[in-house]
Amino acid sequence: MPMPHRALITAGGRGTRLRPLTHTNNKHLIPIANKPMIHFALEAVAAAGIREAGIVINPDTGEEIRRALGDGAAWGLQLTYVMQEAPLGLAHVVRCAESFLKQEPFVFYLGDNVVVGGIRQFLERFQARGDQCHLVLARVKDPQRFGVAEIAGDRVASVVEKPKMPKSQFAVTGIYVYDSPIFEAVHAIVPSARGELEISDAHQYLLDRGYRVGFSEITGWWKDTGKPEDLLEANRVALEQLLDGTGPVVQGSVDEESDVAGKVLVEAGARILASQVRGPAIIGADAVIERSYVGPFTAIGARCHLRDSELEYSILFEDTAILEADVRIERSLLGREVIIRRCSGRPKTQKFILGDQSIVELC
Ligand code: TTP
Repeated sequence: MPMPHRALITAGGRGTRLRPLTHTNNKHLIPIANKPMIHFALEAVAAAGIREAGIVINPDTGEEIRRALGDGAAWGLQLTYVMQEAPLGLAHVVRCAESFLKQEPFVFYLGDNVVVGGIRQFLERFQARGDQCHLVLARVKDPQRFGVAEIAGDRVASVVEKPKMPKSQFAVTGIYVYDSPIFEAVHAIVPSARGELEISDAHQYLLDRGYRVGFSEITGWWKDTGKPEDLLEANRVALEQLLDGTGPVVQGSVDEESDVAGKVLVEAGARILASQVRGPAIIGADAVIERSYVGPFTAIGARCHLRDSELEYSILFEDTAILEADVRIERSLLGREVIIRRCSGRPKTQKFILGDQSIVELC
């Protein structure tokens, strides 16, 4: 069997668990270490030798994705955009992409999965084993939250969605390698109780018909970034990987009163003034950090402004300001053009202008 030379990458869906950020941003463009999340998927498939990728978009945010990724040349990929008119499930995604995939082997990569350590080994194993379906599994502490694979020898025996009594610790991740029987499966299954064509039902169909379903265990780090705390953790790991050495890399400027230590990337035009920065952290292009503290695992987007404030273990999108905040801000995700500021003294009353589903905790 030939090595798969196409990938199908999702960039649609609803992103409800990441509201309010996903009211105005496609989830796959949320920055992780100052890079849109979906770049990690494109880099991983390109590094595995894939040259053609289908990007599945939806009518609401498809244009935003097209503008961000273009023709794919930046990754050495040829991109084809595939429209999914409504989020009817992952098996429906495969149906929508049938003419692009041409009944040939391919890797299906959910664009909100971040993997460290590459995916080439999964494609090679799929080919070496002669599998018709190859699931990438990860050992997790809380398998009842995932689709769980039961293993028999070198094969998958069953896949159960969110089982109360998991038969193994192996969660099914968002990376799958398929040969042509998957097309038969996505047409044979019917919508689930929630009205979606579930990919786990397609896998069960293949198992029931005796197709060879194999697996690989993920060796590096993996995260499905569905929830805010997942984004912060993916950001932490991506920042740890960002710089090879241990010291700072300063493309912008750091004044004499500042102290910048550890893995810190200060991007071009960024200015650190009378501040402390403790890596791993990234300070985006043209950002200004004044009389402030930036702690580990923080990614600050382009043109952000921190003044007399403290920030740690957080992601700031672009053009956001934290000014004279009188609390340390931690484990936070702030979208674009957010402003947090103290007005005067310690006010007894507070005035907020907040988007849908924002959470403010005054501790
Ligand atoms: P999910 O995380 O299952 O769903 P979602 O992204 O819509 O988010 P939420 O559950 O918070 O509402 O989706 C996994 C990936 O698959 C993600 O990249 C979005 C994509 N997807 C589609 O492209 N089409 C679909 O019909 C579905 C269900 C998901």
